Amino acid sequence: MPNAWYREKIKTLYSPEQIQARVRELGAEITRDYRGKPLVLLCVLKGSFMFAADLARCIDLPLRVEFLGVQSYGDDTMSSGVVQITLDLARPVDGEEVLIVEDIVDTGLTLDYLVHQVQTRGPASVKVCALLHKPARTKKKVSIDYLGFTIPNKFVVGYGLDVAQRYRNLPFIGHVAQP
Ligand code: PRP
Repeated sequence: MPNAWYREKIKTLYSPEQIQARVRELGAEITRDYRGKPLVLLCVLKGSFMFAADLARCIDLPLRVEFLGVQSYGDDTMSSGVVQITLDLARPVDGEEVLIVEDIVDTGLTLDYLVHQVQTRGPASVKVCALLHKPARTKKKVSIDYLGFTIPNKFVVGYGLDVAQRYRNLPFIGHVAQP
């Protein structure tokens, strides 16, 4: 991006190249594990839109992409602990292999809610792929089947992740530098 308006504020944690390399590895692993079976990639909006788009292109399986909108942070940097569904599934997933795609697992409250929600829809299986995990903030332990990176306890933005809805368009993952 030529006008690097964010450069002073955001310090890079993972470059676009590092992210793409890891996404390719995750895609290959998922492709191997599901052995040709049809898969529903469940993209959790909004944060996962970029990760899910890249991951989908690295999975060599008969794939269906569905979207579920949830929000627990609003415009705040602290999780409210209350997960709100902002967009429900457009099609049923009963009898299907479902892979939930999350950008970040922070306290784990959203993912815990999501896994239970999806399980009530009668899928054949539910697994989780998260790009980032911040273990220092865990409140609810939820198993992550495919994980991109374990990160330190810093507020991260970019590659889909926001602060007050901004920075989602950055092609890298960074953290907000202290003034
Ligand atoms: C973010 C992120 C996860 C959740 C993780 O969503 O996309 O869904 O928080 O946090 P937790 O582990 O503490 O529950 P957010 O509520 O910010 O909505 P967004 O995806 O629309 O940005």
